[in-house]
Amino acid sequence: MNRFSDLAEIETLFDKWGAQFYSENLSQTAHAVQCAVLAEESGAPSELVLAALLHDIGHLIDLEISAGVEEHNVDTEHEATGARSISPLFPPAVAAPIALHVAAKRYLCSVEPTYVDGLSEASVATLALQGGPMSGEEATRFVAMPHADNAVSLRRWDDLGKDIDKDLNPSDEFRRLLHKHFNNI
Ligand SMILES: [Fe+2]
Ligand SMILES: [Fe+2]
Repeated sequence: MNRFSDLAEIETLFDKWGAQFYSENLSQTAHAVQCAVLAEESGAPSELVLAALLHDIGHLIDLEISAGVEEHNVDTEHEATGARSISPLFPPAVAAPIALHVAAKRYLCSVEPTYVDGLSEASVATLALQGGPMSGEEATRFVAMPHADNAVSLRRWDDLGKDIDKDLNPSDEFRRLLHKHFNNI
C-alpha cells in the first residue's frame, strides 16, 4: 500500500488511522479537513486544496506500516512518503506542496523571525529533527523550486488547522472534499 491506485484506498487508510492524534491535540482527519477548508476559503485551486487535505497522509502510512505505533524520535520523512504515495493518482501540483511542506516550515523559520512563535509544540519539537531553520543559502534554493510558494501557503494552513473546538464530523467532510476537488483536476 505504498502507492495508491484509487481514492477508495485513501479513504480506507483514513478510516483506519485518521482518528489517531499523532502528537497534536486533534485527529489526523480533523487536521486534514481543517487545512483543506482553510485552503478553500482562500480561493486556492483544487490541486492545492487536495494538497492541504492529504499533506500528512505519510503519517497515516507510517501508522499502517508500524501497526499503529507512533515514532517521535526520528524523522520518518512523512512528507516524502506522502508525496510518493499519491503521485500515481495526482499531478505534481498536488504532490509537490506535500513533498515541500516540512521544508516550508524550515524556510519560514529562517525568513520570518516570529513565525516559530505560532507553531504548535509538536511542530517545534520536530523542527530540530527535520534540520532546524534553513540557512540563507538553503532558503534561496528553496524559493526557486517549483511549487515552493504553494508549499508556503500550505504550511500556513497546516499551522492554523489545529483548532480543537472545530472537530465536526470530519470523516464525511474528508470524503466530500476529496471527491469534489479530485473531480476538478
Ligand atoms: Fe506534516
Ligand atoms: Fe500537518
